[in-house]
Amino acid sequence: MTHIAVLGSTNMDLVAFVAKAPQRGETVTGREFRTIPGGKGANQAIAAARAGATVSMIGAVGNDSFGTRLRSTLEHSGVETDHLRTTEGPSGTAHIVVDDEGGNAIVVIPAANGTVDHLAPGDEGLIASADALLLQLEIPLDAVLAGAQAARAHGVRTVLTPAPAQPLPVELLNATDLLLPNEHEVAALTGRTDPRSAALALLEEVPEVVVTLGSAGSLYAARGTDPIVVPAPQVTAVDTTGAGDTFAGTLAVALAEGRPMPDALAWAAAAAALSVQRAGASESMPYRSEIDAQYTS
Ligand code: RIB
Ligand code: NA
Repeated sequence: MTHIAVLGSTNMDLVAFVAKAPQRGETVTGREFRTIPGGKGANQAIAAARAGATVSMIGAVGNDSFGTRLRSTLEHSGVETDHLRTTEGPSGTAHIVVDDEGGNAIVVIPAANGTVDHLAPGDEGLIASADALLLQLEIPLDAVLAGAQAARAHGVRTVLTPAPAQPLPVELLNATDLLLPNEHEVAALTGRTDPRSAALALLEEVPEVVVTLGSAGSLYAARGTDPIVVPAPQVTAVDTTGAGDTFAGTLAVALAEGRPMPDALAWAAAAAALSVQRAGASESMPYRSEIDAQYTS
């Protein structure tokens, strides 16, 4: 079995489902409130586990009830949590409004995730034993960089989702094997709004770039080849929260299994399409059998 390590965040998502999100100064009555485990790191870990990999999570939860539930959700999803620390204080939270078109607005409070600013003893050994390391930007950049450099030193493929969008130090890009931004993130990184030209510009720093394009699929660019676009299944979205994380976790599994990039991208697109049709981040992630059925249909 392939082994995926994830270094990143765990959040409890506090989700208000509402017809239309309020404007500034406006109060609206929503339909439902739910607490759903999320966080970009944990989401990618659960997506990879459901897609069929052995997964280890490196990060931190708080010593509150959210932390207990976040840890047990990961464990029940088959994610190994020996390197998930419990810190004094609250767990990370994400305050999310999901509207009737499946769109969202999110405020993230890092809390325990903010303590993950270095690799702890044993983390490097775990990274070295993995086939790939998945990274995002909801923990301090120092740790993201340390993780990427540790992976690079051991020949482990690094997959970086540069979210939430922010400018990145060139050392981090140079320690990344596959950069996986969405359209907003790629524009924030390059100042270019055209995904194709942005991806080509990023090839100066990173050997492979995949820009996720939502329902339009994904664009793949690598040094020395022409970019390709791989389409996504057309579905009606209920909640797109975590769709990018589903894509990242699933893609990493397919690549670690040795599948060619276009096939891996189509498989990841099938997984993301399944996830947007269900509510909640981690809860909406599909299992391998579901992905295979969507992929061949
Ligand atoms: O990528 C989706 C995730 O972003 C949510 O689960 C939420 O926790 C935010 O961090
Ligand atoms: Na979803």
